[in-house]
Amino acid sequence: MTIAIRQIHPVFVGEVSGVDLTRPLSRDEVAALEAGMDRYAVLVYHDQKITDEQQMAFSVNFGPMEDARGGNITKDQDRRLQVGMNDVSNLGKDGRPMERDSRQRAFNLGNMLWHSDSSFRPIPAKYSILSARVVNPVGGNTEYADMRAAYDALDAATRAEIEDLVCEHSLMYSRGSLGMLEYSDEEKAMFKPVRQRLVRTHPVTKRKSLYLSSHAGTILGMPMAEARILLRDLNEHATQPKFVYAHTWRVGDIVMWDNRQVMHRVRRYDDNQPRDMRRTTVAGESPTVAQV
Ligand SMILES: [Fe+2]
Repeated sequence: MTIAIRQIHPVFVGEVSGVDLTRPLSRDEVAALEAGMDRYAVLVYHDQKITDEQQMAFSVNFGPMEDARGGNITKDQDRRLQVGMNDVSNLGKDGRPMERDSRQRAFNLGNMLWHSDSSFRPIPAKYSILSARVVNPVGGNTEYADMRAAYDALDAATRAEIEDLVCEHSLMYSRGSLGMLEYSDEEKAMFKPVRQRLVRTHPVTKRKSLYLSSHAGTILGMPMAEARILLRDLNEHATQPKFVYAHTWRVGDIVMWDNRQVMHRVRRYDDNQPRDMRRTTVAGESPTVAQV
């Protein structure tokens, strides 16, 4: 089999054929996929009946996996999946959809806000790899927005204004916008804001992109209201339909995206029926800016 990548959106996203992700990949295959990620920022694969172990083995082709601790309010004893697998389903440990008033469910609904995975960590994620195990019958598309194209379309004055700005990101900001304002001392320590540049440069292609995320809640040196208006304007600009690809899931699909170049969100779905999506995350290599 030979890997082929076909662009399926005017500005980004490649659909990959000629590869079986359940098997070990050759060095050339990994290089072809990594080059595809640099170019398209999102890669879509179909008909990959993958196990958790195979998905983790595929992920480490692109770098060490991210330590998932500190990214959720779910306690270790309540986890449905093994360490290394991020559970982005609507299911509790018993395998059934979570209760509507559950705090865990409310927290997970934050995935429906535009974000970049792990932008709340001092070293944010490189790639996310999401596999569809059970697809919900209603809604549940994942949408991706190309932050390079969004940056390129900014006017010169805005580019100059934001070039050196640094934001603070925290899960408490994204969840706070959904009305989740109460956290234990342990959670507050875990969700302590981190600094991220607002404009970042891709290490390989050197393309600049907007580094936006619902986790961003302040901009250093700017009054909060002013910062939030600017972030809101930039988000509105960056998520115009011309920069967005909507993925409709089929069982066996895997979508892999570069969190340094795109934002994403999940659309609403029928929460009475199961949706089993499992993510692995490839760790980033360095912070975007010095932390305090
Ligand atoms: Fe996400």
